[in-house]
Amino acid sequence: MQPSTSPRPLLAALQDRTEPVTVWGAGFIGLSAACALAGAGFPCTVLDTDEHRVREINAGVVPLPGFEDVIPLAEARSGGRLRAASPDDAPAVAARVHLVCVNTDRAGRPVTGPLTEVLSAVGRARSGGETLVALESTVSLRWLDELVPAALGADPADDASLHLVAAPRRDWMLSPDMNLRTLPRVVGTARPESLPPARELYEAISEVVHVAPDWRHAGLTKPVENLYRYLDLVLTNQLAEAYPGLDVPEVLRLAGTKWNVPTFHPSIGIGGYCIPLSPRFAVDGTAGPDEDTPLPLVAAAMDWDGEHPARVAESILRIADGPIGILGLSYAPNARIVEGSPAARVAEHLLARGADVLLHDPYFTPEEITALTGARPLRWPDDLSGLATLVAATPHDLYADLPARLSALQDPPALVDNLGGYGAALRGTAVPYAEWGTPAARPSAAPRP
Ligand SMILES: NC(=O)c1ccc[n+]([C@@H]2O[C@H](COP(=O)([O-])OP(=O)(O)OC[C@H]3O[C@@H](n4cnc5c(N)ncnc54)[C@H](O)[C@@H]3O)[C@@H](O)[C@H]2O)c1
Repeated sequence: MQPSTSPRPLLAALQDRTEPVTVWGAGFIGLSAACALAGAGFPCTVLDTDEHRVREINAGVVPLPGFEDVIPLAEARSGGRLRAASPDDAPAVAARVHLVCVNTDRAGRPVTGPLTEVLSAVGRARSGGETLVALESTVSLRWLDELVPAALGADPADDASLHLVAAPRRDWMLSPDMNLRTLPRVVGTARPESLPPARELYEAISEVVHVAPDWRHAGLTKPVENLYRYLDLVLTNQLAEAYPGLDVPEVLRLAGTKWNVPTFHPSIGIGGYCIPLSPRFAVDGTAGPDEDTPLPLVAAAMDWDGEHPARVAESILRIADGPIGILGLSYAPNARIVEGSPAARVAEHLLARGADVLLHDPYFTPEEITALTGARPLRWPDDLSGLATLVAATPHDLYADLPARLSALQDPPALVDNLGGYGAALRGTAVPYAEWGTPAARPSAAPRP
């Protein structure tokens, strides 16, 4: 280790906003954090292995399509305090404050590679003086206990100059109002002495900071809060399977009139990369191996959910007798997010059963659609007329006039409506309609009247 070149206490340099901050990862989480920090006055460098993202940021362009209006890059750059660089930028790697925002998942599974690489680089570059490492990426408790100390080459309990912080993110990135400034932030440190610099950093960018007893409690908060939602959604889908003769969305709507019951809708799958991954991060932090987890409810939910796309495909095949169209690859409306796409998983099962599947999403090119799903690109709206069945997976704004378009067709396809949003506009029309979770979507599974 080199002797420290900056004798200034870290807390003082954070207080007067002169301390440079390095943010690892220029995805939504890293770039929004870097912009917030630069906006709060910290000189900030965001490092990414993706050269395209680095170039775009330095040119003033948000490199994340669809999030141009959500990430205040121009504002952050106008103060001259934000730049992007590759991870071999020596001054940034040797900084005393690091926010780790790299991806911790790939293809629907937790991955440790990026986190290990970043922490190893930070560990190698440490000067011997104070270093603060804040983990914004989603992590498991086991990673905090084992991976982080091993990669940094330091024992958090013994190393008084190392400030380890867990500060998980909970943004809803599609809503500009639910961001790192407005959403309450949970922050915990490995040692109580690290709390003052951690608070200084996070209170500069977040309106409310909840201090956890330590970083393990803070780290586990993220998988647990998403786990609630995951279990609710799996239960919702199980109810729709368990009662094929009932209008389950209606039962859930009625149940939701009780003061402490949220309303969910059955669906063709749970998408994205936070909620479906949460059980894996939660189980990974428990004492036993997966097959022996002390969270058997979670393990059973994961097993059942893993089979859900195949069950959905079977139900659709019972309705379909010709080409099947799917609208929406992204799991969330009006965004380009392919991770955890329920439509892609269902398409895969339909194709494996020999179905002719066409798919459209305005956020993906026809070439991408085929490469990502194997389905034929569906030309919107021209191909609607040739379909036997249409699955409305994601209600992108572009599809707002879908009911009118279908009603205008001579021989419209049967519409399988994932979330039930098109039903009201189709009432009284000749379009065969099946809201997911109702008997119409499960024709042969429903008991005969
Ligand atoms: N996106 C969200 O809304 C959200 C919300 C809560 C938590 N999270 C968590 O935050 C983390 C980041 O999410 P994201 O959506 O920004 O991910 P992302 O995949 O969009 O971005 C991660 C970035 O890290 C870069 N990277 C990978 N390895 C690197 C390395 N060794 N050095 C430098 N850069 C490297 C990648 O090139 C990529 O640009 C994940 O753990 C995610 O689970 C995300």
